[in-house]
Amino acid sequence: MDAPSDGAWTGDVDRLVKPDRVHRSLYTDQAIFDLEMERVFGRAWLYVGHESQVREPGDFYATKLGGQPVLMVRGDDGAVRVLHNRCTHRGALVCAQEAGKARDFRCGYHGWAFGRDGSLKSVPRQEGYGPEFEKERESLGLRPVARQGTYRGFVFASLAETGPSLDDWLGEIKSSFDDMVDRSPDGEIEVAGGVFKHYYEGNWKLYIENVNDLVHPRYVHDSSTESAKRQDREVFTDGAGEIAVRQMIQNGVLVNVWDNVGTWCFPNGHSYMGDYHDDDRLLAKSDDPVFNEYRDTLVAAKGTDRAREILSVMRFNSIVYPNVAFMSSFRQFRVFHPISPTRTEVHIFSFKLKGAPEAMFHDTVRFANAINSPASQILTDDLEIYRRIRDGLVSDAPEWLHLGRGFGRDVADGSGWHGDHGTSEIHIRNQFDSWRNLMKEAA
Ligand code: FES
Ligand SMILES: [Fe+2]
Repeated sequence: MDAPSDGAWTGDVDRLVKPDRVHRSLYTDQAIFDLEMERVFGRAWLYVGHESQVREPGDFYATKLGGQPVLMVRGDDGAVRVLHNRCTHRGALVCAQEAGKARDFRCGYHGWAFGRDGSLKSVPRQEGYGPEFEKERESLGLRPVARQGTYRGFVFASLAETGPSLDDWLGEIKSSFDDMVDRSPDGEIEVAGGVFKHYYEGNWKLYIENVNDLVHPRYVHDSSTESAKRQDREVFTDGAGEIAVRQMIQNGVLVNVWDNVGTWCFPNGHSYMGDYHDDDRLLAKSDDPVFNEYRDTLVAAKGTDRAREILSVMRFNSIVYPNVAFMSSFRQFRVFHPISPTRTEVHIFSFKLKGAPEAMFHDTVRFANAINSPASQILTDDLEIYRRIRDGLVSDAPEWLHLGRGFGRDVADGSGWHGDHGTSEIHIRNQFDSWRNLMKEAA
């Protein structure tokens, strides 16, 4: 592999991560990537999906955890299970569809059928497998993942038998999930609409580092900011255009605004970024009739004080290391699927707050179009930068990537830390702390 120049890499990950810089191989090397799948994605708690995606018995959703295909399925007993999507006969996917409802899961190769709980139900011409087969049948169900857990309807799984509990792993970042669910007047949320998918030519870590990088918008998104500023005011009367243009303009705020926003970091690589929409907030403008109706509904459901408390939480992006980032107040989830050292797929989901005006969900979809769709004029700027990083890192000099912005000036804050200024790269260093802990030989 591409080892640090001060000697061959012997598996000692400490040599690849310094307090304020990381070795370039972390973004390019196949051996490192393979080890990340085994140790980072193989040991951390990973976001799988939301319970609303499998509302009724037989509903399923197929996804991947660290490259491994899994199925989230609701059984007849009402339980949601996360199972390896791999036939126990000779290894084919038992489910090749992404989502739907199934009476059972019948493998397309030799017809073994598995129940909604994963148990092996029937085997065509079973006698051919011999008289002992029946005794083995119980052990031939679809394998559950090593551990699974749920927090407020969000389903997680770990591919490791041991390690911290989900509760301990999430820690303080649970409050971002709370923020998302508490905003629902009915106390419930659901995945709604379609899924945006895109891939980019770059390492998976680049995206989760960028999500809370508060220096980049002024530069990376400069072209969309400048063209948005030139828009005729009429565009502000059209809901769809308004959200896109307002977001583009917001990206261009000066660095002192970003410095006052800040990112809060917690153990295990998690962080959230404050809200920077001082322009009456993007989707919660004080004069917005839809938002007013929503606020009234929330007050009716929760009382004035509680509603005020809920709406006073101002978070833009939350990152739950290592595979999901979300925007609680905009109701968008981005789930990361590493494909190779220099290729990553991202799936984007929108959520609906139950009990909120339907028009609010339309805003959610508009926001998804503006920010997260493959046609977004904002997202595509970021993807271009990831590709430029991939291309830049082909050069082997310098050997290290610099993560020193704000280094040495972190401020302890409750159960976590924040930078002494909002544009500190503290969240990236925090992610690498978790990365290093997971990547060590004995976790
Ligand atoms: S591989 Fe599934 S039935 Fe043979
Ligand atoms: Fe960006």
